[in-house]
Amino acid sequence: TIHPVLLAGGSGTRLWPLSRKSYPKQFSPLLGEESLFQASAKRLSGADYAAPVVLTNDAFRFIVTEQLADVGIEPAGILIEPEGRNTAPAVLAAALSLQQKDADALMLVAPSDHVIPDVAAFNAAVAAATEAAQAGDLVTFGITPTRPETGYGYLELETAPESGGAPRPVKLTRFVEKPDAERALQMLAAGNYLWNAGIFLFSVKTIIAAFEAHAPSLMDPVRASVENAQKDLGFTRLAAEAWSQAEDISIDYAVMEKAQNLSVVPYASGWSDLGGWDAVWLESGPDSDGVATNGAATAIDCKDTFLRSESDEQKIVGLGLTNVVAVAMPDAVLVADKSRAQDVKTVVSALKAQG
Ligand code: GDD
Ligand code: MG
Repeated sequence: TIHPVLLAGGSGTRLWPLSRKSYPKQFSPLLGEESLFQASAKRLSGADYAAPVVLTNDAFRFIVTEQLADVGIEPAGILIEPEGRNTAPAVLAAALSLQQKDADALMLVAPSDHVIPDVAAFNAAVAAATEAAQAGDLVTFGITPTRPETGYGYLELETAPESGGAPRPVKLTRFVEKPDAERALQMLAAGNYLWNAGIFLFSVKTIIAAFEAHAPSLMDPVRASVENAQKDLGFTRLAAEAWSQAEDISIDYAVMEKAQNLSVVPYASGWSDLGGWDAVWLESGPDSDGVATNGAATAIDCKDTFLRSESDEQKIVGLGLTNVVAVAMPDAVLVADKSRAQDVKTVVSALKAQG
């Protein structure tokens, strides 16, 4: 069996004002009825999977338990990070706590804010990755790139990916996290690169060995915070003092860019990380004018525009707009040029600075 490890501690500021510090995007029903977190947990709950381990923080712990209960999933554990230190310490903490049970176990690390519509195809890709993971590879999942995105990791394959046929792992020659624009264009043009989906399969002992080799400074603080963790109701609170000594770094920079034992299973059946309102617009199925609306929203003579209202009491109407994103929440409204969607995180910093 595979142990799902769900990362649910991010704050998703590019989806302001829907995504808030107190209620980030992974817990909101962005598309459809369930939250992205619930959909992610369900996707990893079939016969091949053990109960999930969830990593989150104090503020979200009850949202996590409620939302899991809602979809009938009993977690194996909920680890509470005393503060967000990014994904490397979080994944290492999960690995060290699983190690106490079974060092040979496989763990599937998955973000909780992705859209993956075809659950069967996804699970087939995971099944295709298990042998390589058991043999000691860090297995990634690769998405065919469609634009020179600078917010993703890029996977360099030994050869150009084959199209068609059953998914199978291919060796990676390099992992490049968040390239600059020029580098991203080159990799898109080269043809032998895939985007990193941000989902990983490896054995507990392989990832621990990788941290020991490539991010040794994380070992002592994270191990100490796991060993001194406190049980609190159903939660496991990682020890705060040791945790604060762990470097704030993502697994992509800490391990993936440095490791040699990498492979990728190409995945072609639909994936989006909903990293901004432009992505939500695309996933909402814009009409032939490029218009998509959610909730109590009406677009008249608009083009390439996304309008969304959270409440029936607050109607939003767009008239004659081109390339606009407008999102109305009861207490805040965003109106933005759609091509600036990725800059919405600067709004959050600006508002914070204003106090
Ligand atoms: N528990 C916990 N603690 N979760 C976290 C933390 C943390 O401190 N920081 C981030 N996460 C969660 C986020 O909520 C998200 O689900 C996931 O970890 C990935 O973090 P992001 O911050 O969204 O990473 P990214 O999108 O910039 O980059 C990653 O994902 C891309 C694909 O979406 C990388 O893996 C890229 O290489 C990849 O292309
Ligand atoms: Mg992301």
